[in-house]
Amino acid sequence: MADFKTLVAHCKEYGFVYQSSEIYDGLSAAYDYGPYGVELKNNIKRYWWEAMTRLHANIVGIDASIFMAPQTWKASGHVDAFNDPLVDNKQSKKRYRADQLIEGYAEKVLAKADKEVTKAKKRFGESFDEAQYRSTNARVMGYQEKADAALKRMNDALGAGDMQALYDLIVELEIADPESGSREWTDVRQFNLMFSTQLGAVAGEAGKIYLRPETAQGIFVNFLNVQKSTRQKLPFGIAQIGKAFRNEIVARQFIFRMREFEQMEMQFFVKPGTELDWYARWKATRMQWHRTLGHPESKLRFHDHENLAHYANAAVDIEFDFPFGFRELEGIHSRTDFDLAAHQELSGKKLQYFDAETQESYVPYVVETSIGCDRMFLAVMSHALQEETVPDADGKDSTRTVLKIPAPLAPVKVAVLPLLKNREELTSKAAAVFDALKLHFPCQYDEKDAIGRRYRRQDAIGTPYCVTVDFDTLEDDTVTVRDRDTLEQVRLPIAEVAAHVREQVSLEQLLAQLV
Ligand code: GAP
Repeated sequence: MADFKTLVAHCKEYGFVYQSSEIYDGLSAAYDYGPYGVELKNNIKRYWWEAMTRLHANIVGIDASIFMAPQTWKASGHVDAFNDPLVDNKQSKKRYRADQLIEGYAEKVLAKADKEVTKAKKRFGESFDEAQYRSTNARVMGYQEKADAALKRMNDALGAGDMQALYDLIVELEIADPESGSREWTDVRQFNLMFSTQLGAVAGEAGKIYLRPETAQGIFVNFLNVQKSTRQKLPFGIAQIGKAFRNEIVARQFIFRMREFEQMEMQFFVKPGTELDWYARWKATRMQWHRTLGHPESKLRFHDHENLAHYANAAVDIEFDFPFGFRELEGIHSRTDFDLAAHQELSGKKLQYFDAETQESYVPYVVETSIGCDRMFLAVMSHALQEETVPDADGKDSTRTVLKIPAPLAPVKVAVLPLLKNREELTSKAAAVFDALKLHFPCQYDEKDAIGRRYRRQDAIGTPYCVTVDFDTLEDDTVTVRDRDTLEQVRLPIAEVAAHVREQVSLEQLLAQLV
């Protein structure tokens, strides 16, 4: 796996992701997807969308508006409780999230424990049992306890909304400003993360509306519309992909945490009492979706929420091992009837389901799966980008940068390359091959530079197949098809290329592994 800096540079150089408004020195935490980035992102979205809606007869999609009636966010709790605890350093005037300062402290303490473990590993060699060492070595256990205690106190304070306790903890742990080293902190205050703007010409509070901080609420308010118009019976789901906006205070790590991002969310409506069973099923289904992309088991893990939100009766994150460590990629939440009941109460409109079997009406419970499209993009890219030593055209070792993106997600599926640029018979034949293949897949025609360099360019954008048109092609209508990962080259009749490629690049072969 490439390091983070290399990954960010690669994204820019090869047209995947650019800093937003870069010519004005960029806007922090906003990014633009380039020509290959948008294709990869669209393919990720398609993989998710088809896995939800095509593979499940009882899941349908919607595309709700970003702007919603402001009461939506009152009912959902976002107006009152969608806050981050912030603290300012008096000397540097920098603003931080109090919980992230404390987590940073815990990470540093745990790094000391890791250092001890690494030293011991070197000392004991093959016979070293890490688990036993961690559970018996006094120093390592001490560090672990210190970190755990700090995190527990932080979680308790967050759960209770106790800002004073967070402040006391920062002071007690002697946490310093990471930039200036100063320990002079202001009080910890709550800061609402929603962006607001004005609707039409209505001035003041009356015209104040929000940019949605999650797509889920567009699904909740449409629950009955969708149920009635599609005649779905419980259990059934509604899926949606769309932009969400959060005024994140500490927006870092490239596209991992942005202020404008995209979510892929599915709310699954179930009969009360069955929600934990469905929660377990969706946990397994979602993990399988990730693993089908070929990410090794060691890169994905579940992380149960210790502090459940007041409306949830179970919640878990799927975490991915990003270049900066394990972080949340997706959340799966059993949200009870909190959202529908709150909208029902505030709107005064019934949001109930009539169960023909039991002849009862009730507010369904909801299991939600929610994944950030941009985080998924980062996960795919960070796993795919590799440096390899491979033989070049003369059989000598050379290094190549290759993006081993799962073929169905690759932005370009086939590159068509005439062996030489200045031979019209080759270029016109290659153009004809390109015209035939472009009807089947996103293809690219490239005739500039030596063939080896063109292969490298395609490797760097993750093209699974390169088709080379040479002099033999003119004789027998065959081409060389080069495989990005194995570097194997096979000779095939032009008429068979599409079928050969389709086997590997079709989304259907991924979907087939999910059923
Ligand atoms: N409806 C539930 C919900 O929004 P969340 O855990 O706040 O839950 C869900 O967000 C997912 O959205 C996260 O797992 C993450 O992948 C993505 N996400 C959240 N905030 C983000 C941000 N600032 N930038 C990029 N992705 C973000």
